[in-house]
Amino acid sequence: MSLVFKLLFNFLSKLPRFIRERIMPDMLIPPISNNPSKVQLDRLGHFYFEHPDLEKFSKFAADFGFVEEKRTKDRIYFRGYGKDPYVYVATRSKDGKPRFRGPAFVARSQEEFEKAAKLPGAIMGSLEDTPGGGKIITFNRTDNTLFHIIYGQTERETGSQEATATHEQQGPYNRAFEKPRKGKFQRYHPGPALVHKVGHFGYVCPDFDNELAWYTDNFNFVPSDILYHWDFSNMDVLTFMHLDLGEEYSDHHVFFMQRAEPEVKKTFVHHTSYEVADMDTQQLGHEWLASKGWKSIWGVGRHVLGSQIFDYWADSSGFKIEHYADGDLVNKDTPTSRDVVGPFSIWGPEVPKDFGGKGASPS
Ligand SMILES: [Fe+2]
Repeated sequence: MSLVFKLLFNFLSKLPRFIRERIMPDMLIPPISNNPSKVQLDRLGHFYFEHPDLEKFSKFAADFGFVEEKRTKDRIYFRGYGKDPYVYVATRSKDGKPRFRGPAFVARSQEEFEKAAKLPGAIMGSLEDTPGGGKIITFNRTDNTLFHIIYGQTERETGSQEATATHEQQGPYNRAFEKPRKGKFQRYHPGPALVHKVGHFGYVCPDFDNELAWYTDNFNFVPSDILYHWDFSNMDVLTFMHLDLGEEYSDHHVFFMQRAEPEVKKTFVHHTSYEVADMDTQQLGHEWLASKGWKSIWGVGRHVLGSQIFDYWADSSGFKIEHYADGDLVNKDTPTSRDVVGPFSIWGPEVPKDFGGKGASPS
């Protein structure tokens, strides 16, 4: 069936645009806006993963810049240096298969958390044995994907100083006309790029329209950018979404969804991403991961949409994982943009051919 669809698709894409777009049914993302009836989420707190070899992952995690916060027999909580008590929960996989077990978003208030608890399919749980405590609600979504809402965690105390494992002394950047750093030197040494916080994640999803509707009907996800297919302007294929916090600015995207190609039968996580302080941190972190023998996927480069400086790696189980720095912020006054799928980077190495696809990635 998928081969037939692919042949038909290839045939259609050769026809003149006005004919092919009449034949291809519209697959457009409807207008999406936030309103108070939806559950208001504040930020992305952490991710859950299962790894076959927890020890190997903990080695990767240390080289990637996570800090181990708590360890039990089959689970490790890793933190960044931000306010979240942990940003990554790695559990030993019981059947030896790696799995993504969903994002956990922090509700904006107790009231919003209670609203989420009333949504169909909500399963209440507790985080009392985890660093920071709190409560959790879980939703089972398509293809065994999970979506979690949390509330009531005790946040970490953070100073105003960014934590670093690489920077000895860093002043402001001396630009062409303005040179604010006078008589002081930039000094660094090798080390991992310490992670601040979770940034975003994305799914490649066969049931794209229904799943996108569930997330955006129930929560304050709003598209920052919508991208349509290069051969069919009536087919939206990807959206980068932010959390609408009103006047308050939030990351350009915290969640993206990509319409799966017909041969993809099951939703998979494309990558998860974590913030680091700056470009020097990223470059030093890149060299650190390379020196430890980990596999680079793509980077260092700069994205177009979202503007992040990016660096993608394969973790010890094969999941794509990203360091980013210098991302865009948006708020309620930032309009949603819609454009054709274009280059994903303005500089950096050539994008790998299968970057948008599953490749050897686990589910
Ligand atoms: Fe990313």
